[in-house]
Amino acid sequence: MAITKQQVVDALKEVIFFKKQDNIVNLNMIQDISIKGNDIKVTIIFEKLDDPSVGIIYNSVVKTLKEKLGEDVTVDVKPVADDKGPLSGVKNIIAVISGKGGVGKSTVSANLAIALSKAGNKVGILDADVLGPSVPIMFGVEGGQPSVVERNGKPVLIPLENYGIKILSIGFFVKPEQALMWRGSMANSAFNQLMTDSDWGDLDFLVIDMPPGTGDIQLTLAQNYNIRGAVLVTTPQKVAAADVRRAAMMYRQDKLTIPLLGVIENMAYFSPADNPDKKYYIFGQGASDSLANELNIKVLGRIPIEEKVTETGDTGMPITMVDNSPVTKEFINIAQKITNLVDKL
Ligand SMILES: Nc1ncnc2c1ncn2[C@@H]1O[C@H](COP(=O)(O)OP(=O)(O)OP(=O)(O)O)[C@@H](O)[C@H]1O
Ligand SMILES: [Mg+2]
Repeated sequence: MAITKQQVVDALKEVIFFKKQDNIVNLNMIQDISIKGNDIKVTIIFEKLDDPSVGIIYNSVVKTLKEKLGEDVTVDVKPVADDKGPLSGVKNIIAVISGKGGVGKSTVSANLAIALSKAGNKVGILDADVLGPSVPIMFGVEGGQPSVVERNGKPVLIPLENYGIKILSIGFFVKPEQALMWRGSMANSAFNQLMTDSDWGDLDFLVIDMPPGTGDIQLTLAQNYNIRGAVLVTTPQKVAAADVRRAAMMYRQDKLTIPLLGVIENMAYFSPADNPDKKYYIFGQGASDSLANELNIKVLGRIPIEEKVTETGDTGMPITMVDNSPVTKEFINIAQKITNLVDKL
């Protein structure tokens, strides 16, 4: 028989937080329960993650669920900090990741943000790519300077805004010639500031354009923030898929379990203007599907190669903003799928 949420909740009522003299359900510490077959995932909110009680409750949850629901269940406990901070108004943080540069991560991030916003969501975009910050150009806010206000004695950044989307970029603070120097801890602390010392307000989605590959910022993001899910961007080439596989595995490591929402295949094919029904698979076919299969996720969409994508990106108006093309329709579709997926998580 399938395990029900109620059974899990009932079992969790047996887990007592001694310091507070009550069980973790009554204490409203359960943020989320998801059940897939015999795999149970429980997200538990703690006031502080460095409290010794985190480990005790972690073990007790695993033990109790196995006792009550059977030794063959696998239990994944994700402790998260009670976040009353600046990101508490952000419902879903979505990381857009790729294995290598130049596959269209920024293009996807920008157009996805716009498609989500067109569907009626409040959206922000954070450009975390130190080496190639391109979100400011794509949103026509290049050279902009976010203002800083003081709140509770702390400086807080106010994101810029265009097309109703809140925008912050590492590019507002790093000069291109300094980018290489910025790769390590400086970039990391800048990233943390953009995340938490900024006034994101209430958002349905915060889309993060991540640097390619697996570096410091990726680890910081996975370890310190409550990410709803990651979207993988790749091109149809086998090598690109191999690189993105490596990046995906990092996000899936033990304890970093960030749900992988799916693959977006960019530059999937080319259709000539005079024969729009014809598809030329210039970079090949199939690598994204086998990647998705292997990771047990879906291909969320395929974006064709389209000159207007570059043109509109360069002029500060991503294609989804200005054009009712097949590319726009695909991004609207993808946004809908992502919304459905996060609703189910
Ligand atoms: N579907 C597409 N059709 C045509 N051009 C595209 C498409 N997707 C991206 N491009 C172009 O390819 C280039 C690289 O895209 P983009 O900057 O989005 O990639 P990226 O993965 O963010 O790269 P980087 O690693 O440099 O940050 C840009 O000039 C962009 O306009
Ligand atoms: Mg980019």
